[in-house]
Amino acid sequence: MDSSSSILKPLITVFFIFFSATVPSSVLCNNNEYEERFNACSSKFECGDLKNISYPFWGGNRSDFCGHQSFKLECRENENPVLNMTGQEFRVQSIDQSTRRMIIARLDIWENSDLCFSNGLIKNTTLNYTIFDYPPLTAVRNLTLSYDCPVIQPPPDGFQLNVKNFTCGTGGENNETVYYFAYDYVPVSFRPHIPVCGRTFQVPVFSTALDKLLSHESGNDQVKEVLNGGFEVVYIYNSGGCEACERSGGSCGVNSNSTDDSFLCYCRDEYPDPLHCLHHSTYACSLFSFLGVLLVVEFLQFIKIIL
Ligand SMILES: *[C@@H]1O[C@H](CO)[C@@H](O)[C@H](O)[C@H]1NC(C)=O
Ligand SMILES: *[C@@H]1O[C@H](CO)[C@@H](O)[C@H](O)[C@H]1NC(C)=O
Ligand SMILES: *[C@@H]1O[C@H](CO)[C@@H](O)[C@H](O)[C@H]1NC(C)=O
Ligand SMILES: *[C@@H]1O[C@H](CO)[C@@H](O)[C@H](O)[C@H]1NC(C)=O
Ligand SMILES: *[C@@H]1O[C@H](CO)[C@@H](O)[C@H](O)[C@H]1NC(C)=O
Ligand SMILES: *[C@@H]1O[C@H](CO)[C@@H](O)[C@H](O)[C@H]1NC(C)=O
Ligand SMILES: *[C@@H]1O[C@H](CO)[C@@H](O)[C@H](O)[C@H]1NC(C)=O
Ligand SMILES: *[C@@H]1O[C@H](CO)[C@@H](O)[C@H](O)[C@H]1NC(C)=O
Ligand SMILES: *[C@@H]1O[C@H](CO)[C@@H](O)[C@H](O)[C@H]1NC(C)=O
Repeated sequence: MDSSSSILKPLITVFFIFFSATVPSSVLCNNNEYEERFNACSSKFECGDLKNISYPFWGGNRSDFCGHQSFKLECRENENPVLNMTGQEFRVQSIDQSTRRMIIARLDIWENSDLCFSNGLIKNTTLNYTIFDYPPLTAVRNLTLSYDCPVIQPPPDGFQLNVKNFTCGTGGENNETVYYFAYDYVPVSFRPHIPVCGRTFQVPVFSTALDKLLSHESGNDQVKEVLNGGFEVVYIYNSGGCEACERSGGSCGVNSNSTDDSFLCYCRDEYPDPLHCLHHSTYACSLFSFLGVLLVVEFLQFIKIIL
């Protein structure tokens, strides 16, 4: 036996062990398709002040299979997270995923500088009650804004309608008075005294902000500030066991092949599961690699014997 072969032999052994361990595991242990989906749904939605948002929300870096259709978020100008509900756009101020509450504000109002809507496009705020609801305990109430109003009649004796106003317009004769009030606070018997105006729309706001606003005279800016503060909604979705999925190391998403967005747990190394990651392929590839190493070691020993 010469000295070169005594150096070569352990080298060959190491090479074989390495080869036998990596080849089967690279075939069996890596599945880029699953890994891609897992990674896509592990990334969080981020936009402006909104951070760390995951299932059931999607949009931005999160693919459509990472959330429910209705919970699509879009990031505008890198700072405005926008949600589209029933054809109306809302700016998402915050999301608390643990309580399923979010604060949203009308984007059209956010982008309108003075609440004057000279283009006449005014819409009521309509929630899609299939997926959103107002929080309990009247934490949120409607603020009504009325445009193109007749001159307001004085309220009946001894009653304060608490209808406030601000001014829109180019000045002088062209100025228009806009009235705002809380319909909910007007007793039913006094509601007929509310002026009937050409254009009226309602926007939910926080009750505390509304009370404060109506307690003193304000201008456009203060009213806009209250509207831009947004209102709270509770969002409704079937979590489908997202917690169990995450505990098993998976990322929550939906089956984009299904019509009803049914829940799907995306796993790093195996086919997605409706409940949680089973780690079948991880076990299989560990076992296979181990057997591969064992086989080669035995084979080398066999060669050593016959030599
Ligand atoms: C991100 O959100 C998850 C829950 O969705 C939470 O467990 C985690 O602590 C949050 N991380 C940060 C940095 O806020
Ligand atoms: C989203 O993706 C873009 C490019 O695709 C990347 O620059 C950005 O860092 C990603 N953001 C997050 C929060 O992952
Ligand atoms: C409300 O949301 C549900 C669930 O996404 C959707 O199927 C329905 O069409 C929505 N309704 C309206 C009026 O947009
Ligand atoms: C919001 O929804 C409406 C109606 O479904 C649609 O016309 C509009 O283009 C949507 N806007 C965005 C930003 O997706
Ligand atoms: C606000 O008014 C709309 C009608 O414009 C109504 O559908 C909605 O339920 C009201 N919201 C609250 C919180 O009272
Ligand atoms: C607007 O409000 C002020 C203060 O309450 C009041 O003096 C004024 O008469 C109101 N204007 C109109 C047109 O109602
Ligand atoms: C008309 O409105 C402008 C601002 O919109 C205001 O400066 C001006 O005082 C108003 N004039 C009258 C008569 O109300
Ligand atoms: C908004 O709702 C109120 C009360 O339901 C109604 O009187 C008003 O006409 C609606 N406004 C629009 C623009 O649809
Ligand atoms: C969706 O359908 C395609 C084609 O039928 C299939 O290859 C894929 O595995 C399906 N995805 C899921 C998550 O079931």
